Amino acid sequence: MHKDLEKVVFTEEQIKKRVKELGEEITRDYDGKEIVAVGILKGAIVFFADLIREIKVPVKFDFMAASSYGSSTKTSGTVRILKDIDTDIENKHVIIIEDIIDSGLTLKYLKENFEHRKAASVKLCAMLNKPEGRRTDIKGDYVGFDVPDEFIVGYGLDYASVYRNIPYIGILKKEIYS
Ligand code: PRP
Ligand code: MN
Ligand code: MG
Repeated sequence: MHKDLEKVVFTEEQIKKRVKELGEEITRDYDGKEIVAVGILKGAIVFFADLIREIKVPVKFDFMAASSYGSSTKTSGTVRILKDIDTDIENKHVIIIEDIIDSGLTLKYLKENFEHRKAASVKLCAMLNKPEGRRTDIKGDYVGFDVPDEFIVGYGLDYASVYRNIPYIGILKKEIYS
């Protein structure tokens, strides 16, 4: 285990199995359709790369960069779009791919933004969900795992840009950020 972690929450094997299940579920639900998968940089990138290979209907990729945490462990409450998608999503079936839903502010903002662009449908897929962090009514349509109310890193999730490349998911030691 990485020395800055207090505990591993999900191992590489558990992640792989769950991602495969999510891919199968999405494949069933979108039978006969094409998906535009929009990964939210930077956190979603690892999950995005794994998930899209488990989806067996046509998938187009796009990316949006949104950030609300910066180098803090608490959301600033303001979602900043740093890069927009370049696909025209009008009448398209969009799945927004995220690493985690915590307060829900990022996804609420993005979902409404995409609905205004007249997508045929907009669904939310997140590897992790932290129910205790929620400050909005947003709910994931496809969720990998629920996580406890701790600061989680790895598998794309960072603290001050570090730890994204840890291949499993763990709880960061409090002494690292306090
Ligand atoms: C994190 C995470 C989600 C969002 C979830 O992104 O990757 O995008 O926050 O939190 P919320 O539900 O409270 O909005 P962050 O702002 O840290 O940017 P990053 O993906 O580049 O790390
Ligand atoms: Mn993010
Ligand atoms: Mg982050």
